[in-house]
Amino acid sequence: MITAKNIKRSFNDGQRELEVLKGIDVTITKGEFVAIIGRSGAGKSTLLYQLSLLDRPTAGNVILDKKQTATLSDNERTQFRLENLGYVFQDYALIPDLTAEENIIVPMLMKGMEKTEALQKALKAMNQVGLKDRVKNLPSELSGGEQQRVSVARAFADEPKIIFADEPTANLDSASAKMVLDVFLDLHKAGNTIVMVTHEMEYARLSERIITLKDGLIYSDKKVSKKK
Ligand SMILES: Nc1ncnc2c1ncn2[C@@H]1O[C@H](COP(=O)(O)OP(=O)(O)OP(=O)(O)O)[C@@H](O)[C@H]1O
Ligand SMILES: [Mg+2]
Repeated sequence: MITAKNIKRSFNDGQRELEVLKGIDVTITKGEFVAIIGRSGAGKSTLLYQLSLLDRPTAGNVILDKKQTATLSDNERTQFRLENLGYVFQDYALIPDLTAEENIIVPMLMKGMEKTEALQKALKAMNQVGLKDRVKNLPSELSGGEQQRVSVARAFADEPKIIFADEPTANLDSASAKMVLDVFLDLHKAGNTIVMVTHEMEYARLSERIITLKDGLIYSDKKVSKKK
């Protein structure tokens, strides 16, 4: 589903070159639920952006759903993202002037879905994250954790093939975090692929596989043993 070959990403601040990803090789198969962990600054978000077509690596290749992504134009990348990928951003990235449900339907409208259908999906998703009474609220009227759950709802409302979630539970109390993880586990059961960055080991262990990043490289990549 996702193959990354020798991914590097550097940033140049005009003074010096900072190499954040130093050569990442990873393959994630269809339907896998993968957690990415590591210290702050290890490159987790940066890696997620490369795998999810939000950024272009300085070197290396990302193959998504059998597509070589390096040769896609910006329009083709956008189209591919709208049709196949869902995102939870670390900073939520909600549009402040739009209500919760409007935020959720934006990507669906962009790919051409009818508004009534998109609104139905938005309502269902808001219900799943425990916010069905908040659909008409603006982000500024919601707590941080509620905004985060809206951003989670936006990511999965259209049941994308792959969900990329950057710290989707970082600001949630344990009950709300459980709702989010239950949604992910349901999507996983339904065959969707999930890549989740988290710093909470307890939540990482709910996935099938934990990749630890350290200083821009994969430090370990382990299957989670499930004992009940
Ligand atoms: N656009 C950018 N320009 C310059 N440096 C950047 C940029 N994006 C990320 N970095 C740097 O790359 C490093 C890794 O950042 P990244 O956001 O991937 O870390 P992270 O593992 O997600 O950390 P956290 O757990 O704090 O979210 C950091 O040192 C950061 O300052
Ligand atoms: Mg991050």
